Amino acid sequence: MVASIPRGRLDGPAVIPLCLCLIAVGLLSDSGICIQQPNAAPAKVSTSNLKNVIQVHDSLFSGALPENEASFAELKRLGVKTIMSVDGMIPNVALAKQYGMRYVHLPLGYDGISKQRALEIAFAIRSIPKPIYLHCHHGKHRGAAAAASGCLSLGLISPEEANRVLNLAGTNPGFRGLYDAVNNASRIPDAELDASQITLLEISPVPAIAESMTAIDATWEALKRECESKSDFNPIRCANQSLLLREHYVELGRLQEVQRMPLEFHRLREKGESILARMETQFRRSAEEAVPADSTRAGMIAIESNCKECHTLFRDVPKGASGPKP
Ligand code: HEC
Repeated sequence: MVASIPRGRLDGPAVIPLCLCLIAVGLLSDSGICIQQPNAAPAKVSTSNLKNVIQVHDSLFSGALPENEASFAELKRLGVKTIMSVDGMIPNVALAKQYGMRYVHLPLGYDGISKQRALEIAFAIRSIPKPIYLHCHHGKHRGAAAAASGCLSLGLISPEEANRVLNLAGTNPGFRGLYDAVNNASRIPDAELDASQITLLEISPVPAIAESMTAIDATWEALKRECESKSDFNPIRCANQSLLLREHYVELGRLQEVQRMPLEFHRLREKGESILARMETQFRRSAEEAVPADSTRAGMIAIESNCKECHTLFRDVPKGASGPKP
C-alpha cells in the first residue's frame, strides 16, 4: 500500500492548538492557564492513553505505540496529522484512517540506523503533514533515536537537544548503535533530500526475524499478564499460552534468515523452546493437582533471561558489528 504523500518542504512549525500546549510539562501554571513558551521542546508531555510522549520539536512528538482507540483519539486531540512508525509491527493503518491520520512505516532494528534509513526518516519528517507522532514500541529507544537524529539532520534541533530527547525518553545506553546514530547525525543538505527518490509506504516489509519477534513479544506479554497474577490464576490457560509461545520459537527456527545465524543463536532458541515445554508440563500438572504453580516461576525468569541473552548478542549490537559481541 503506497501512501500518496506529496513531497514538499517543511511547511514551517506545525500549529499545535493553543489549548494543547497545556499538556507540555512545565507550561502549565498553578492556575491551569497555558503559558506558551516557544522553543520549550524537547519536553515530556503528559498524556492519558499514550506512553512516554516527548515533544521533540514544534512539529514532532515521539512516544510509544498507540495501542487502542483511546490512543488514536488522543493523537487526534494532540492535532497529529501523520503517524510515523519505526516499529517492526505492522501499523494499524485502518484505525489511524478512522481518526483521519495517515501512517508512514520505516521499521528499524535496535542495532542502529542505516544511512539510507536515516535519509528516509529525514525525508519523511520534512515532507509529511505535521504535527507528526513518531513511535516505536515502548517509545524509549528506537523512536526517540529516530526522532532525535531525524530532527538533528534537518537542523530542527541542536545536538544538545537531541541528547536531551534520549535522556527524557530513557534510551538505554546499551543500544550503542542508536546512540551512535544520534551522535554521528549530520545535517543532510536540502539538495540531497530533493534528489532522493524516496517512496513512503504506510506498511513496509519487515525482516522475517523482526516479524517473528513481534509475535513472540505479544505472546510473552500475554503469558506474563495471565500467569503472574495470583488472583485470577488459571493454569490451563497458562499452559496453553506457554505452548503458543513455544510454537513461535519453533517457527522462528524454521525461517530462512535464521538458518544463516551463528550456532549460539540456535542454541539460545532451542533453550527457550525446552524451557517453555517444561513450563507447559508444570502448568498442566499444577492444574491436575490443584497446587499453586510456584515451580513455573523459575521458568518465567529463565525465559526473561533467554530473551535478554539473545538480544544482547544478536539484536543490540551496532550495525556492521559482525556476530556476537566479544
Ligand atoms: C534466539 C534469539 C532470540 C530470542 C530467544 C529472542 N529474541 Fe527477540 N530478537 C532477536 C533478534 C535477532 C531481533 C532483531 C530482529 C531484527 O531487527 O531484524 C529481535 C527483536 C526483538 C524485538 C523487536 C522487534 C521489532 O520491532 O523490530 C522484540 C520486541 C523482541 N525481539 C522480543 C523478544 C522477547 C519478548 C523474547 C523472549 C520471550 C525474545 N525476543 C527472544 C533475537 C531473539
